[in-house]
Amino acid sequence: MPRDEILDPTPTPEEKTATILNDEAELRPRTLDDFVGQSQLKERLGIILEAAKGRQQAADHLLFGGPPGLGKTTLAGIVANELDTHLHITSGPAIERAGDLASILTKLEPGDVLFIDEIHRLPRIVEEVLYPAMEDLQLDVLLGKGPAARSIRFDLEPFTLVGATTRTGLITGPLRDRFGFAFRLDFYESADLERIVIRAADVLGVSIDSNGAAEIAMRSRGTPRIANRLLRRVRDYAEVRGSGVVDHEAAADGLALFGIDDRGLDKVDRALLSNLCERFSGGPVGLSTLAISIGEPPETVEEVIEPFLIQQGLLMRTARGRVSTSSAWQHLGLEPPDTSMTAPEVTSLFE
Ligand SMILES: Nc1ncnc2c1ncn2[C@@H]1O[C@H](COP(=O)(O)OP(=O)(O)OP(=O)(O)O)[C@@H](O)[C@H]1O
Ligand SMILES: [Mg+2]
Repeated sequence: MPRDEILDPTPTPEEKTATILNDEAELRPRTLDDFVGQSQLKERLGIILEAAKGRQQAADHLLFGGPPGLGKTTLAGIVANELDTHLHITSGPAIERAGDLASILTKLEPGDVLFIDEIHRLPRIVEEVLYPAMEDLQLDVLLGKGPAARSIRFDLEPFTLVGATTRTGLITGPLRDRFGFAFRLDFYESADLERIVIRAADVLGVSIDSNGAAEIAMRSRGTPRIANRLLRRVRDYAEVRGSGVVDHEAAADGLALFGIDDRGLDKVDRALLSNLCERFSGGPVGLSTLAISIGEPPETVEEVIEPFLIQQGLLMRTARGRVSTSSAWQHLGLEPPDTSMTAPEVTSLFE
């Protein structure tokens, strides 16, 4: 069952290639002040950037981790903007050979920011060339093959590497150690999402009231990208079926029409939870079995679907598999099984 595109936190091709000219790029905050929420991260990052600027040095290398759509790419842009330097954008899978990395690094000017998205997908040989570049601004490139091969060393200009990853666990130790700071982005609180929706409505010229914004915020899976997307859908709905103003009624009815329930779960989330509760009696059930039951790849279940369900207290990962919580049964309107039977088993998983 394909997930409704609207709730898929990974970027659409248009969102990915967004240029300065279109809405999506316009919605990205350009300064740290405009970046809503994540207050602890903002404070720490603000200090790092201000100090680097004061010393007129490149800032330390920075790593941003966390689920899709929470603002990692946006932060890379903010870092370059706040430091008043150029941003160069690439991604782990795009850098296939050491030579590709060398050509990127040698083009950097002093203080530039190099953003490597999906940095956990850098090929190992490239990663090894990156270590001395990050640490000592040295680039060693091997030219030729076999006995005739020779290594050339380049000096690099000071630069700031900003890495982003949705899979912090897949970053190798040596790479992780070479970042000055590793930040983890968490799902956003409703109040922050509400501010994001209001800010986006302002940028897009949409009339919205606070109840409408609150309703969209509540159903956005803690994810700004989804909040922005839901806002556009509700705007369409309000223009066609309502008064054009995004109020509570337009938001609630519009989102219901698109199959999003009052906790922001769509049909895929509900299918996963109802399979877990009904077919597998609430678990524990293994990831791959659960994934097959809804026709999604296990990676999608693990990286995209589950994090939000876990954060919402609807699902738990245990050593023996996935387990539904009583809130999940309640949310689906199902009668939970006799707890006197399941409680000892679940508890024993944590011993
Ligand atoms: N803190 C924020 N305040 C306001 N808007 C935000 C914030 N974080 C993200 N956004 C909005 O959400 C959208 C998605 O953010 P972004 O592309 O930075 O996510 P990401 O973490 O890089 O996702 P991915 O892992 O898929 O690359 C952006 O277009 C931006 O408009
Ligand atoms: Mg990104």
